[in-house]
Amino acid sequence: MQKTLLLVVSFLALYVVKKYQDWRRAVRSIHDVPGYRHVFGPHSFLLVRRIRYLCTGSFTPWLKKHDDFAQYDSDIISGEITGARTRFPKPLDAYEGINVYGHNIVGTEADEWKRHRKITAPSFSERNNRLVWDETIGIVQELCEDVWGGKDHVVENIVDVTIPLALFVIGAAGFGRQMSWKADLNVSHGHTMPFKDALHVISVELWIKALLPSWFVEWAPIPRIRAFRTAYTELERYMIEMIEERRGSEKKEQRYDLFTSLLDANEEESDGITKLSDSEVMGNIFVFLIAGHETTAHTLAFTFILLALYQDQQEILYQHIKSVVPDGKLPSYEDMGKLTQCYAVILEALRMYPPVCLIPKTTAEDTTLHTCNMAGEPIAIPCPAGTGIGVHIAGLHYNPRYWKDPYAFNPSRFLEDWPRDAFLPFSGGARSCLGRRFSEMEAVAALTYIITRYRVEVKEEPQFAAETFEQRKERLLTCKTAITLYPAKAPLVFKRR
Ligand code: HEM
Repeated sequence: MQKTLLLVVSFLALYVVKKYQDWRRAVRSIHDVPGYRHVFGPHSFLLVRRIRYLCTGSFTPWLKKHDDFAQYDSDIISGEITGARTRFPKPLDAYEGINVYGHNIVGTEADEWKRHRKITAPSFSERNNRLVWDETIGIVQELCEDVWGGKDHVVENIVDVTIPLALFVIGAAGFGRQMSWKADLNVSHGHTMPFKDALHVISVELWIKALLPSWFVEWAPIPRIRAFRTAYTELERYMIEMIEERRGSEKKEQRYDLFTSLLDANEEESDGITKLSDSEVMGNIFVFLIAGHETTAHTLAFTFILLALYQDQQEILYQHIKSVVPDGKLPSYEDMGKLTQCYAVILEALRMYPPVCLIPKTTAEDTTLHTCNMAGEPIAIPCPAGTGIGVHIAGLHYNPRYWKDPYAFNPSRFLEDWPRDAFLPFSGGARSCLGRRFSEMEAVAALTYIITRYRVEVKEEPQFAAETFEQRKERLLTCKTAITLYPAKAPLVFKRR
């Protein structure tokens, strides 16, 4: 017994010494640049939660925003990294879990990524943007008039509205399948689950596939995992049917959803590019869902919360919309360019609450990063090949060097000349977000329609009657993070105007 204990203690001691040596070597390789030190690495699965002195936790960049940079007297390095794709590629092992159904644009690098980007990018066309707009208006109209019956409505948590809203938009303008707020009782022939439910289960439960071993997912007799298994196979079957159906039909009516456009682009002759296989087509269309669903839903959720808190800003927005969209008319795609205040509100919400707070990259070769201290004097940081890097979006968005009064909700800053290099919610450079216009169309259309008809307020609750504005703000804007940043719980009231 004593021998075993001695052995365990010796192993532990050796492990600690080895860790310390590795850590010293890593810190020396970047010339002892001051900053946080992680013992187990910032992306360790076990340490996603903050553990002082061992790990800053994946949530910390959001909590600290620009504070760490101020403390260590350094500016943020972003453009140099996002602008040099080959020097700073993605750490592909961190993206392994995203290659569901097939390889895709998000989880690939180098020539493979170029091939995916070349074939998928044309689907995000102007015609698709128009479709996003029209579908969004239809979906929010059904929500306000049919589901809420044109009356006041209390929402216990705003994401309960924005998550289905964004799902229906991606379902219609992404997959080409219209969905409704009403329960879908029609299970298509040969299926056991409606398309809408399969899409919903997969998009909220993807962690099951990403984090649990596949043998466990295939076997586990746990209802939640069983539902995931069914949804996973069902969605795959729906997608295969959609591919076959679109291939099989004669040149049909023109459709501009991402799925149809992707299949069309893949069929076209293109100089020397290998076509996507069926599994790669499914991998890409699926990754559009994952990349675009929560991000847009949470952006809209934060926007509604901010407007509910800042009634003066909501009034400015309301008056602006009224000046652009005539009374009783539906906002049209052509109005988008004129809805500047609405767009500014969305951008300000994205600046303050970027759904993706940290973008992982790595160094392909030995290199040096260049930045400066807060006084503007240059600092050089050596980075050996294979160094993990995180582009700190929250730090950038709250840097007072670029954003005056960064904690203030001030949409009008986006109506003047604003620092584009210090705004990276959609990343930047060659690997920037492909769905940016998709999500902007959706957010502006939804906001315009709803704000014209409803005033958004914070739900009054007796237990919070005595809270100050700051306390209320903190309560509603407390965030959590899963894959993306989201509001923990924000009860709002939509009052018919
Ligand atoms: C507010 C909404 C959105 C935000 C904040 C956002 C943010 C981002 C970010 C930060 C990246 C870079 C990720 C990385 O490097 O790992 C990205 C990439 C991407 N996004 Fe978005 N996104 C949004 C909406 C969408 C939508 C609606 C779609 C599709 C329908 C979409 C599709 C993509 C794709 C395909 C990429 C990969 C581009 C590439 O690697 O070449 N995104 N997005």
